[in-house]
Amino acid sequence: MSNRTFTMIKPDAVQNGHIGGILDMICKAGFRIVAMKQTRLSAEKAGEFYAVHKERPFYGELVEFMSSGHIVAAILEKDNAVEDFRKLIGATNPANAEEGTIRKKYAESIGRNAVHGSDSNENAQIEGDFFFSGLEKF
Ligand code: PPS
Repeated sequence: MSNRTFTMIKPDAVQNGHIGGILDMICKAGFRIVAMKQTRLSAEKAGEFYAVHKERPFYGELVEFMSSGHIVAAILEKDNAVEDFRKLIGATNPANAEEGTIRKKYAESIGRNAVHGSDSNENAQIEGDFFFSGLEKF
């Protein structure tokens, strides 16, 4: 069990003014923000981040969307962080997301679903390292 996960607030939620609301839900759920930055991914960088999904039919759409505007990237800390954060964000498709989850409240659709959360401890480490240097991760 690792105590860190990685998240992005996606371009739809940033554009719709939901950064504050989403961070409030994250903090109220007991996560500590270890590192955080607002930035923008080029199509090349978004493609690299999501390379594991390269063969999936929505890959092009996902890369285009994730490079369409600013995102907020963060490393979060809490016991059982990866699993608990996936519960907090809810199902990938907001139509299936439970009440009280971030995607239920803020996601527009399966493609524009407000937040990303790492799906394993290994990916949490890789994804955090993609955005943050060692000095930023205390
Ligand atoms: S998950 O959350 O990784 O288990 O979900 P998965 O279904 O494997 O989806 C991987 C990422 O692709 C996004 N996604 C889509 N984007 C656009 N259109 C469609 N139809 C679609 N389906 C899934 C999904 O939000 C995941 O992105 P992240 O950033 O990991 O949430």
